[in-house]
Amino acid sequence: MEKIKMILDCDTGHDDAIALMVAARHPAIELLGVTVVAGNQTLDKTLPNTLKVCQAVGIDCPVFGGMSLPLVRDQITAGSVHGESGLDGPVFPPLTRRAEPGHAVEFLIRTLLASEGDITLVPVGPLTNIAAAMRLAPQILPKIRQIVLMGGAYGLGNTTPAAEFNLFADPEAAHIVFSSGVPLVMMGLDLTNQTVCTMDIIERMEALGNRAGKLFGEIMRFTFKTQQEVNGLAAGPVHDVTCVAWLVAPELFTLREARVEIDLSHGPCYGRTVCDFVLRDGKKPNCRVGITLDRARFWDLVAETLARYE
Ligand code: BDR
Ligand code: CA
Repeated sequence: MEKIKMILDCDTGHDDAIALMVAARHPAIELLGVTVVAGNQTLDKTLPNTLKVCQAVGIDCPVFGGMSLPLVRDQITAGSVHGESGLDGPVFPPLTRRAEPGHAVEFLIRTLLASEGDITLVPVGPLTNIAAAMRLAPQILPKIRQIVLMGGAYGLGNTTPAAEFNLFADPEAAHIVFSSGVPLVMMGLDLTNQTVCTMDIIERMEALGNRAGKLFGEIMRFTFKTQQEVNGLAAGPVHDVTCVAWLVAPELFTLREARVEIDLSHGPCYGRTVCDFVLRDGKKPNCRVGITLDRARFWDLVAETLARYE
């Protein structure tokens, strides 16, 4: 069977790291490259974090550094959730793995233009790289098969009452992507919070006895601790992994069509994904929004994929 060609765009990040490990080893995926953006931390941290994960578990696909600042707004980061490094918890050996020369946005444009329109983009951080590519080379739009992104919420946000982190970190970029006409799947907090990673899941991955299981444990033990401190929860979600899981196992999810618009007014709803499921005033849907997830089978998929590492 032909593999699903995808590019992961991430701001590594705890859940980004797990999404990367799953994308790189799932047998149904061909990971063409990883583009990195500022988000959970500044780019001078998210890029080395990505390379450290690749080095630690032996992922050899090309990694490119991308946009270091949002398009319009002042930069925000998520140090309270991901720590000072953006990936606090695991202790990595000195980094020898290097990023590819050239900019992530150029890689995206070059790769999409040379493709047969069969590449899926999976952005799991702020949408700055994707929006910049769309503005620099609008001719890529018909070449993008679909975009499966982590961000937003039809309910409450996690960074403001109205906005989720990835969207709030670059709302103008999100507006460009959501109004692009490219087929979109949005995994928002309402869906991603259903992935709750409890201690038994952490122990299950560690019991795999390989490098990926060990790194999963180090990552999620840190997330477990911060979620307890920040949110009072006895578990942590792995938001970004849902996008990769949907690509290979859509039967584990339910989605609903909606018209999703980004609030760009600078009031309390700045960065909100306003999701209209009723399609008022004859509006056309621009997105399929994640609603439910089969949690047990989701974790089986992650375990089976991580088991493929040495
Ligand atoms: C999103 O923000 C980041 O902290 C996570 O990596 C995820 O992509 C959740 O709001
Ligand atoms: Ca992320």
